[in-house]
Amino acid sequence: MKIQIINGPNLNLLGVREKSIYGNTNFETYLDELKKRYPNIELSYYQSNVEGEIINKLHEIGFSYDGIVINAGAYTHTSIAIADAIAAINTPVIEVHISNVYKREEFRHNSMLAASCKGVIAGFGMDSYRLAIENILA
Ligand code: DQA
Repeated sequence: MKIQIINGPNLNLLGVREKSIYGNTNFETYLDELKKRYPNIELSYYQSNVEGEIINKLHEIGFSYDGIVINAGAYTHTSIAIADAIAAINTPVIEVHISNVYKREEFRHNSMLAASCKGVIAGFGMDSYRLAIENILA
């Protein structure tokens, strides 16, 4: 079972950035917990602040992996190009958000990606990623 987590812009600053919204944990620490929890999954992680690099990663793994968990950060709300990439690949993609975007500014209420995804999980902190993995495994 091969699962890829993709984090988009500014998510390299988790644990540093706006802690009241995104928490104190950096993603690498959380990823170690996930790897321990799921020793039988090949869990890969990729982060980029660059839209085209996220698209390239989706193309690279989107025909061979069993599932993709993506937090596209602010590109969620703007990127038709990432939405098209998700629609173009075979691997099911789950959109996740750490914060409950529906409780926040109105511009965060709309996702360009959601319609191309299997589903969306938002508002459970870092646990949003685990919940997405559980769905892929189910
Ligand atoms: C986010 C929510 C987005 O609106 C924001 O731009 C992010 C993080 C989240 O995980 O809650 O960068 O995707």
